[in-house]
Amino acid sequence: MGGMETDIKFIDENGLRIDGRKPDQLRPIKIEAGVLNNADGSAYVEMGKNKVLAAVYGPRECHPRHLQNPAKAIIQCKYNMMSFSVGDRKRPGPDRRSVEISKIIAEALDNVVFTENFPRASIDVYIEILQANAGTRCAGLTAAAVALADAGIPMKDLVPAIAVGKVADTVVLDLDKEEDNFGQADVPMAIVPRTGEIVLLQMDGHLTTEEFDQAMEIGMKACMEVYEIQKDALKRRYAVDAAIEEE
Ligand code: CDP
Repeated sequence: MGGMETDIKFIDENGLRIDGRKPDQLRPIKIEAGVLNNADGSAYVEMGKNKVLAAVYGPRECHPRHLQNPAKAIIQCKYNMMSFSVGDRKRPGPDRRSVEISKIIAEALDNVVFTENFPRASIDVYIEILQANAGTRCAGLTAAAVALADAGIPMKDLVPAIAVGKVADTVVLDLDKEEDNFGQADVPMAIVPRTGEIVLLQMDGHLTTEEFDQAMEIGMKACMEVYEIQKDALKRRYAVDAAIEEE
């Protein structure tokens, strides 16, 4: 990010991007719910070349105990990038970036989970990035919301997330790694579709007011597409469970 110098032509003469997408086109998305046996809920998400696994435990007793809230459950999130998830080996363990991403994802999820139903408890969300190609916080949050629903945790809605941004003076949806690295702006966002609330919004780089409005419009539309894929994943999971029960 940050508009670094590069010879890459981000938008060709036909108005298409490096990977052939239109400016407002998503990368292919695949979501599967309930992929892990030993977690209370789980989901696997592919957004373009991103591969993400989310696992949920709880509501369960909150540790450390001094974090307990007598009025509601707390959501503890741990976003982690595997060493092999990026080009250069990522040094294992938490860093400033993963602490920040864990915090913003937990805060986004706190808006939809009925945490007041579970005083003193903790809902633990683990997000593992297996392969990264820009937009991992959005893929991670999208996966975490499905995993929470898969765990049967009461929520007012799912949370779909996507990044919008700007490359070659064009507002684009769902930036890939080159666009993220060399583009002019990166704006990850997440919404609560039922209410239209925005529960995550960050901006790296610069957009004019008009560009920002345009970015929000295509971002909102894309979140609704992601939302449908999240719901489909849960319906498929539910259908499989029902079929097993019938046997
Ligand atoms: O992944 P996301 O776009 O949410 O966050 P970012 O901080 O904007 O990172 C953009 C991309 O940079 C990641 O998705 C990775 O592909 C890459 N990255 C990396 O190669 N090594 C890191 N230590 C961190 C990020």
